Amino acid sequence: MTRAKLSNLPTNADTAAADGRGSSVVPRLDVRNLSKVFKSQGKSLVALKDIDLQVFPREFVTLVGPSGCGKSTLLSVIAGLEAPTSGEVRVDGEVVLGPGRDRGLIFQSYTLYPWLSVAENIAFGLNLRDIPKSEKKQRVGYYLEQIGLTKFANAYPSQLSGGMKQRVAIARALVNEPEILLMDEPFGALDAQTKEQMQLFILKLWEDTHTTILSITHDIEEAVFLGERTYVMGVNPGRIRSHLRVPFAKDGDLDIKLTPEFIEVKRQLLHELREGQN
Ligand SMILES: Nc1ncnc2c1ncn2[C@@H]1O[C@H](COP(=O)(O)OP(=O)(O)OP(=O)(O)O)[C@@H](O)[C@H]1O
Ligand SMILES: [Mg+2]
Repeated sequence: MTRAKLSNLPTNADTAAADGRGSSVVPRLDVRNLSKVFKSQGKSLVALKDIDLQVFPREFVTLVGPSGCGKSTLLSVIAGLEAPTSGEVRVDGEVVLGPGRDRGLIFQSYTLYPWLSVAENIAFGLNLRDIPKSEKKQRVGYYLEQIGLTKFANAYPSQLSGGMKQRVAIARALVNEPEILLMDEPFGALDAQTKEQMQLFILKLWEDTHTTILSITHDIEEAVFLGERTYVMGVNPGRIRSHLRVPFAKDGDLDIKLTPEFIEVKRQLLHELREGQN
């Protein structure tokens, strides 16, 4: 049975041990027993129930779940934009009490400031800090190069394609050198080809910058292609159903998506998702 197969796959603790990190390694991101209840017009909605999720330093973890299962809500709570009803979020062992520079956030829709140029958008967070001008310039220049948009430094968001805008949003988050990059369906609005380019781009960036990443998606293929581990959520109430270690190298080989092994992992996740939709 699919479920049995999935639960036989390594757990977080096994994963940490297998990678030589041991169970003593403090997760970069640690979500413990977290629940979120929304109350409106006398009614309660359990958006998240008993969520346990860990992301270890330098890991790339994906989280997949059906629409309305609470993915964005979970990310908002991790980001400190919403308070949990119970449970807690820790970053490097410290309880999260609000938003902070240790977590870089990329939202479900484009959120660039239209009145600022590409370079100014990237520099936005740095301008709120006491950083020497020369360092700001150097950091913005580095990330412009990383996202391949040096020539567009002075362009405005309205002059960019969707993929370019999302690359700027990623640079804007990374320029603050967060401990963890949180992404909410970052490529959801892109066409299939651009989406694939962006997947390769984010893998390369991850490799080059050693950033720890948690990326949310409802696209199973993306979850398997990008994630070293993948969590699967179910709905009503929003909860973690299972998680698995993805047994493929993250070397950006798009052809891996066509192999029987890759398709088998996709099939398992798809079944898990379908079961969680009820
Ligand atoms: N501020 C809020 N007040 C009340 N209910 C909310 C609020 N935010 C989200 N919800 C509800 O919580 C549930 C989870 O919503 P959420 O946006 O987190 O889902 P999602 O998994 O991100 O969905 P999608 O894949 O469509 O983006 C939904 O039933 C939604 O209506
Ligand atoms: Mg969402």
